[in-house]
Amino acid sequence: GGRSGVTGWSFDFPELTAGVDEDHHVAEGFIAEVLIRWGDPVLPGAGTLDPAEQSAAAQEGQFGYNNDFVAFLPLPAGAGRSARGLLAVNHEFTDGGLMFPDSRGRDGETVAIEMAAHGHTVVEVARGAEGRWSYRPDGRYNRRISARSTEIVLSGPAAGHERLRTEADPDGVRVLGTLNNCAGGVTPYGSVLIAEENFQYYFAGTVEDPAERANHARYGVPAGFYDWARYHRRFDVGAEPREPNRFGWVVEIDPYDPDSEPIKRTALGRFKHEGAETVANRDGRLVTFMGDDQRFEYVYKFVSKGRLDPDRRARNFGLLDAGTLYAARFNPDGSLDWLPLVHGTGPLTADNGFRSQAEVLIEARRAADLVGATPMDRPEDVTVDADSGRIYVMLTANAKRKADATHPANPRAGNSTGHILEIRVRDGDFANRRDDWEVLALCGDPAAPAADARWGPGTSGDGWFRNPDNGAVDHGGRLWVATDGNSEAASGRADGIWALETEGPLRGSGRHFYRVPAGAEMCGPCFTPDDETFFVAVQHPGAAPGASFESPATRWPDFEDTMPPRPAVVAITRQGGGRIG
Ligand code: FEO
Ligand code: CA
Ligand code: CA
Ligand code: CA
Repeated sequence: GGRSGVTGWSFDFPELTAGVDEDHHVAEGFIAEVLIRWGDPVLPGAGTLDPAEQSAAAQEGQFGYNNDFVAFLPLPAGAGRSARGLLAVNHEFTDGGLMFPDSRGRDGETVAIEMAAHGHTVVEVARGAEGRWSYRPDGRYNRRISARSTEIVLSGPAAGHERLRTEADPDGVRVLGTLNNCAGGVTPYGSVLIAEENFQYYFAGTVEDPAERANHARYGVPAGFYDWARYHRRFDVGAEPREPNRFGWVVEIDPYDPDSEPIKRTALGRFKHEGAETVANRDGRLVTFMGDDQRFEYVYKFVSKGRLDPDRRARNFGLLDAGTLYAARFNPDGSLDWLPLVHGTGPLTADNGFRSQAEVLIEARRAADLVGATPMDRPEDVTVDADSGRIYVMLTANAKRKADATHPANPRAGNSTGHILEIRVRDGDFANRRDDWEVLALCGDPAAPAADARWGPGTSGDGWFRNPDNGAVDHGGRLWVATDGNSEAASGRADGIWALETEGPLRGSGRHFYRVPAGAEMCGPCFTPDDETFFVAVQHPGAAPGASFESPATRWPDFEDTMPPRPAVVAITRQGGGRIG
């Protein structure tokens, strides 16, 4: 694999051929098997999926739609084992056109199914004697969190603020549900962070108050993509103008306690959170890195005030409520400044409409505008290698960047193919105020001059990709990238997984490992502690312009005429065992 004659790879798997068809494919010598699909029962009595007869009650107990982020948490807790654990999986959004037959029509029940199919699943998984993974439908940790029925606590500086109060929640401290959970992260004490991203899609109507209308406009609210507001008043911003302020947060879940309440941690700011990767800094403070996935938005980090207590797990659950949120300014000289978003400092005062830290957090985007953060080409995952002190920022694309507004950290006008930046943390201190950055790869077809791509010298015709979205670093410090956008480009290539060299003469060279079926994008890359299993999430298989339940772009993974395509988590292992890659 890789370009012939090029040596020095840290990856030695035979490279997969790029392409697209109705099935998924993995590099030779590996096995890719579906572990759990949309509609598989995870709670008692949920039953298996019957698309024509699907109900919200059934969906509440079944694996949700459009799996995105995947985390593996070993069982027993803290043991670091790899053969048994919890899979914690986000369900980002739904596509009613693919989920429901035309004959069903739309009503309050289809909306309720969609709401129940959003959110998150925790499910117990185990690797059997022959190396195959399965999930336990009766696992005692199994849990569904949804947009429809899960109560979520608001905590941190914005909790209880008047701009978070609604008719249903006059104290501004409890929200019904979580929306559009894209990527996330796992904390050092084994909690899961899930990121609320494109919450604007769910709202409709017109806001009267001009200040709140401007705030909502900054976040694209209301986008009116879904018809939920017809059945649920709280999604009508005319009736409930503050409800959108209760979404766009990072939510913390304790996967080891199925009775625990999920908590929206407002100290981490409100924006279209792609993910939230957290490290324990050398002084014990938590540092969480986050991207705001929209064109010309920012990269952020949060540094906790308190320090990790490795002996008393429960004490760590308040750490994300107090600390400092920063937005990144990428300087043209290759340095990077983390600019604090603290009420009363610099422009973040009442003169600019910020009366408290709560308002700085609720309008974090506007606060970052005022302090001079660098507008980026859609920041997705910010993937952290805690051991090396390197951070990889996935910038998926920004076709609207004009030639007169390029910047060394976003160097291409009309950037439709995305790029990856590397941040090097100075002195191994993830909490510091100044780091360094450089470009790791400018994605796109190296054979197409117009793409202006830049790759390492080992990159073959199969090894390049476009639109990096999620990243994972294995326990050897090697980077793996998941893409979202190849399949939209009519390029004859599917989304998938590419390994990417970060060291040595092949730095910046890609190598193709796995690809999704037609219409899908690639999410959730996640390794077990022993690196022998690589979990990946196949999101929206079969989606394409004009695709529907009756005529999807594929019926993966079941390939049955009566069954639509089903988003699914796939477990990849090596034939005969051993490390991935
Ligand atoms: Fe949900 Fe930024 O992708
Ligand atoms: Ca994306
Ligand atoms: Ca994403
Ligand atoms: Ca995505």
